[in-house]
Amino acid sequence: MSNRTFAILKPDCVRKNLIGQVLTNITDVGFKVLAMKMTRLTKDSASGFYEIHKERPFFNDLLDYMTSGPCVPLALEKDNAVEDFRKLIGATNPAEAAEGTIRKMYAKDITENIVHGSDSDENAAIEISHFFSRKELLENNGF
Ligand code: RTP
Ligand code: MG
Repeated sequence: MSNRTFAILKPDCVRKNLIGQVLTNITDVGFKVLAMKMTRLTKDSASGFYEIHKERPFFNDLLDYMTSGPCVPLALEKDNAVEDFRKLIGATNPAEAAEGTIRKMYAKDITENIVHGSDSDENAAIEISHFFSRKELLENNGF
């Protein structure tokens, strides 16, 4: 089991001025921030990131949303990082998310759901290396 996961504070999180609040929710349960930046995804980068969903009916809405403003990619560290982070954020649809989860507390609907979290150790590693250079991770964490 890897102890890293990858997250994005999505454009609605930034627009609602919730970066600090959501980061606090994340660090309060023991996640350490390994790397962080603020960036605006292009259509190409968003469609590459969510390529697995490219045949889904919501794909175009997802691209419009993810490119609608800046977002905050994060590399995070904690024991059991992938699973614990998915528990912290809750179900994709906030209406179905458990009480106390980030999506339950802050998300508007199934599209604008505040935060991304990797769904496997393998994808966490791919996503971290897609958004952060070795140099950025090395400078911050010594590896
Ligand atoms: P994420 O990848 O962003 O962490 O979200 P997830 O695993 O909980 O959900 P996933 O199925 O991977 O969907 C990716 C993102 O697409 C948007 N979505 N919209 N309108 C819809 O039915 C719908 N379904 C998914 C959401 O922004 C979701 O997080
Ligand atoms: Mg997903």
